[in-house]
Amino acid sequence: MTDTTNQAPDLFDKFDGIIHTRTELLAGGVEDPFNLVMERVISPTRAICNGRETILLGTYNYMGMTFDPDVIEAGKQALENFGSGTTGSRVLNGTYRGHRDCEDALREFYGMDHAMVFSTGYQANLGIISTIAGKGDYIVLDIDSHASIWDGCALGNAEVVPFKHNDIEAMDKRLGRIPAGAGKLVVLEGVYSMLGDIAPLKEMIAVAKKHGAMVLVDEAHSMGFIGEHGRGVAEAQGVLDDVDFVIGTFSKSVGTVGGFCVSNHPKFEIMRLVCRPYVFTASLPPSVVATAATSIRKLMQGGAKRAHLWENSQRLHGGLTKLGFTLGTTEPQSAIVAVIMPDLERGAAMWEALLKEGLYVNLARPPATPANMTLLRCSLCAEHSTEEVETILGMFERAGKAVSII
Ligand SMILES: Cc1ncc(COP(=O)(O)O)c(C=O)c1O
Repeated sequence: MTDTTNQAPDLFDKFDGIIHTRTELLAGGVEDPFNLVMERVISPTRAICNGRETILLGTYNYMGMTFDPDVIEAGKQALENFGSGTTGSRVLNGTYRGHRDCEDALREFYGMDHAMVFSTGYQANLGIISTIAGKGDYIVLDIDSHASIWDGCALGNAEVVPFKHNDIEAMDKRLGRIPAGAGKLVVLEGVYSMLGDIAPLKEMIAVAKKHGAMVLVDEAHSMGFIGEHGRGVAEAQGVLDDVDFVIGTFSKSVGTVGGFCVSNHPKFEIMRLVCRPYVFTASLPPSVVATAATSIRKLMQGGAKRAHLWENSQRLHGGLTKLGFTLGTTEPQSAIVAVIMPDLERGAAMWEALLKEGLYVNLARPPATPANMTLLRCSLCAEHSTEEVETILGMFERAGKAVSII
């Protein structure tokens, strides 16, 4: 007989729940919503999926910069002149002229003193939050914060105090209970990406300042689109000057990959030496920072595109409401329109029915979603034409009726 007393459990056992849910879902014959391949990408709004031309409504490519001719040309030039990668950290051999230029573009875009480019937005949150708020400090954050914010809190080992989503009073109370003399950081997002709602930053930042807390705002889903100059929700609400750190990403409106933090803090530059997710990883390839810098500079002149994107968001939100769908917000607040599904099974069926119609949206489910919701998250692009949005509404109507959601 084998002695099993010393046998350690399979470390994968903890995933049995999710393996079971997934197996059950796919056993129903539905196409795997988390395994779609874009066989060819034609434009910011069109791709070939399963051999068929598909309208893209779930890419976060808000300003449609991925196929901008100037952006592509800048990337090609940098690839030819500087090679395919830097093979090094920003603090060693990985800072090229392009990285500095990209940081200059960000400083100009935000009108701020300092800009630091990371390899992803995830790493920007991970690095900045964990480095500025360490053991003994307090982080007060919205319960619906992005995973990268939570992971930044965990990495830094600070005391983490969540409050109910967008609840100003709850945030005030949490801040009031922090022991005197402790370091305090409030972390907020401009747009919350699951439901597409915005934060009451003006009120929240006033409360944070009353308690002497520093404020970090993640503007991943608002940069390029919201605010007169596309600086985000803090700009739109007139409080950008009161934000200590703005975090953002290049993977949405900027149309490439990368992340950043901008700040006016006089000691900010020391971050380059003490922030581990900045120091201990390779820097972005030269072609990526060149595309990002070109895109950021073009976004400064993006007023007409921003106006059209608002029109698209209003048209889609209004049309879906009229069709009888339940949406994440009563009014359109951003370029994200979330359609609430009754459950995962019907959400997956609706997702598949839309794909068969020729429309791609994001299926989101717990634990990524608040309140255990299954969502079809639609993100609009400034390059969607008015006619395309009307076509999308027709697709939603047919698919919604086919799976008995409306
Ligand atoms: C709010 C928020 N912050 C940060 C990130 C991370 O950005 P990146 O894709 O550049 O890692 C995302 C991306 O989904 C996000 O939604």
